[in-house]
Amino acid sequence: MTVKGINKVVVVGAGTMGPGMAATFARYGYDTTLSDIKPEQIEKAQGTIDFVFKTLLGGGFVTEEDVAAARGRLSLTTDQAAAVADADYIVETVPERLEIKKAVFQELAEQARQDAILGSNTSGIPITTLQEGLKNPGRVIGMHWSNPPHLIPVIEVIKGAETEQATVDTTVAVIESVGMVPGIVDKDVPGFVENRILYAIMREALHLLDEGVASAEDIDKITKWGIGYKLAVIGPLELLDVAGLDIYTAVASYLNKDLSNNTGISSTVTSKVEEGKLGLKTQGGLFEYTPEQIQELAQKRGRLLVASKKALTS
Ligand SMILES: NC(=O)c1ccc[n+]([C@@H]2O[C@H](COP(=O)([O-])OP(=O)(O)OC[C@H]3O[C@@H](n4cnc5c(N)ncnc54)[C@H](O)[C@@H]3O)[C@@H](O)[C@H]2O)c1
Repeated sequence: MTVKGINKVVVVGAGTMGPGMAATFARYGYDTTLSDIKPEQIEKAQGTIDFVFKTLLGGGFVTEEDVAAARGRLSLTTDQAAAVADADYIVETVPERLEIKKAVFQELAEQARQDAILGSNTSGIPITTLQEGLKNPGRVIGMHWSNPPHLIPVIEVIKGAETEQATVDTTVAVIESVGMVPGIVDKDVPGFVENRILYAIMREALHLLDEGVASAEDIDKITKWGIGYKLAVIGPLELLDVAGLDIYTAVASYLNKDLSNNTGISSTVTSKVEEGKLGLKTQGGLFEYTPEQIQELAQKRGRLLVASKKALTS
């Protein structure tokens, strides 16, 4: 059921994240518009939306009738001012550049109703910075989705210094109404919670690789099939209680000293970047890939995300 008083949602920015976010709002009953400044992005977003609905259909999350109804509630436009004029909830997902985000927030503050909530899908720009200089900053909030947005359940809700509690409450209710899981971040720290924990894991994984402790394949294998598998059903803090805080104290008292505290970039990553090996986009990074493998990996990842979401929510 949609949240009372929230009828029209606008997603601003139709790149990697916007189409899946907009499709999610539409799927759960919101009158939704996806807007972008570039007509070619709108064109491309149509294909992404088709893919999103195909994935949801294939996973058994929706029926053909659900998809038809969602499509009927979803429109795409380049006319942001017209789209947001009567919107109740607006979330921007434009590029992660401060000057672009600031400009978009200035526009939205002028174009939208004064009581409309303005959310940001920023991965790390402080919400407090986005609030600066805006009229009515209390309605500005972080709404940080994960990629792919139509599948990953958690959405971080980040309070800026001036965010009003009513804005937080409505955002949490909207997230729950689209079948997702809100995670509230009380302090507007860099990286919020999800990326801080992810980057702590990636720093240690890269440190182990730099030090030759294990191969890239084995570091990933141990992480996926050990902690990764466990963390899908139990959080790290609950895990501490399960293990026992006495056991943690005993292990952490010698292990913490040995963990990476590198504030720079791993030497392996630095040399790969210098060689022009950036990952999938250059068919090689920490691993090597053929174009066929890149296709297969994307399909396999999608299939496994759908299967694990079904298993974990059953
Ligand atoms: N890609 C991810 O995996 C991911 C995950 C979580 C959060 N995010 C965050 O989501 C946001 C968007 O990321 P993305 O990867 O979708 O970016 P993207 O570059 O793929 O898409 C951004 C879109 O915004 C449009 N745009 C640019 N300026 C605009 C403006 N002034 N008004 C309207 N539209 C404009 C662009 O044309 C483009 O279509 C960023 O803040 C990013 O940090 C991304």
